[in-house]
Amino acid sequence: MSSVSARLPVFPWDRLEPYKATAAAHADGIVDLSVGTPVDPVPESVRRALAAAADSPGYPTVWGTPALRDALVGWCERRTGAAGLGHGNVLPVIGSKELVASLPAQLGLGAGDRVAFPEPAYPTYEVGARLAGAEPVPYHGAPTALDPAGLRLLWLNSPSNPTGRVLGAAELREVVVWARAHGVLVVSDECYLELGWEAEPVSVLHPDVCGGSTEGLVAVHSLSKRSNLAGYRAAFLAGDPAVLGELLAVRKHAGMMMPAPVQAAMAAALGDDAHVAEQRERYAARRAGLRDALVSRGFRIEHSEASLYLWATRDEPCWDTVADLGKQGVLVAPGDFYGPAGERFVRVAFTATDERVAAAVRRLTV
Ligand SMILES: Cc1ncc(COP(=O)(O)O)c(C=O)c1O
Repeated sequence: MSSVSARLPVFPWDRLEPYKATAAAHADGIVDLSVGTPVDPVPESVRRALAAAADSPGYPTVWGTPALRDALVGWCERRTGAAGLGHGNVLPVIGSKELVASLPAQLGLGAGDRVAFPEPAYPTYEVGARLAGAEPVPYHGAPTALDPAGLRLLWLNSPSNPTGRVLGAAELREVVVWARAHGVLVVSDECYLELGWEAEPVSVLHPDVCGGSTEGLVAVHSLSKRSNLAGYRAAFLAGDPAVLGELLAVRKHAGMMMPAPVQAAMAAALGDDAHVAEQRERYAARRAGLRDALVSRGFRIEHSEASLYLWATRDEPCWDTVADLGKQGVLVAPGDFYGPAGERFVRVAFTATDERVAAAVRRLTV
């Protein structure tokens, strides 16, 4: 049996362990800003919906309950500006990481097919291409400069992890027009769409981008960050019904069902914008404090107009920065985890408690 894991990139987080140990030895404890995992409570309305659906003895469906599909369509129309969507335009997935890693294979891509993704980027786009046996193609700048030969899937990620960069409607529209002309499927990972700070992120489903048609387009959304539901594994796709119908057929055979109580919780979360506004306030305050502290320490912040990260540089190798901040008890992610373009940056997440962020601000402010 050939080893599948041998096709995958080296899992880099182990390299951070010595720096984590240094940071953990700080007298006032570690402030871990290296991972973007939510730390604030699951909204009360969502917990109630989960508990109310606890008695769910039967199998759930892969497509989700009609109530969940209504909630997905409602959210998309309200938050992305898309119009005229129906249940065929949406599909729940069990967290978006699962989808990102399995999408190329589930679409039947393989040897001879190319899958393009931005660089630097969330590493799972590459993993998905490699798991399918397709060729991973990182791109810098505009994807319209790519050779479209053999290109079957084009990932977009705005707002971006790790840079926080937001692509404008005109830029996105250009990509969509180009991809449609070349028969390339655009899959747009928009899991930070509701976390814009200095820019208003726009979805590929917005009519200014897609011209009112979902043809050749799929948006990926996640409730992990906007609703503190990373532990629930709740995400969904919205877009071209031909693509989603095919995925639904494949995922039914594979039994990729979101648990019924999570479906109920997700429907409740999507109908409630109040907790998102509340969570945004928390992040905005943490972001402002960390930003000022990093700037005082000589960092330049690039992009970072949205998402849960500050993309910071002191124009030195990222591991030097990781080591220096580690000595202050603050752990950050080296930019080269996201590709060579990040080798002089670090990614600073603001997903830590107010108390821990305040500790980091005190230690970093010069
Ligand atoms: C760009 C991007 N896509 C997808 C994910 C996966 O999110 P989840 O699997 O929790 O939906 C993340 C998580 O950090 C991310 O940053």
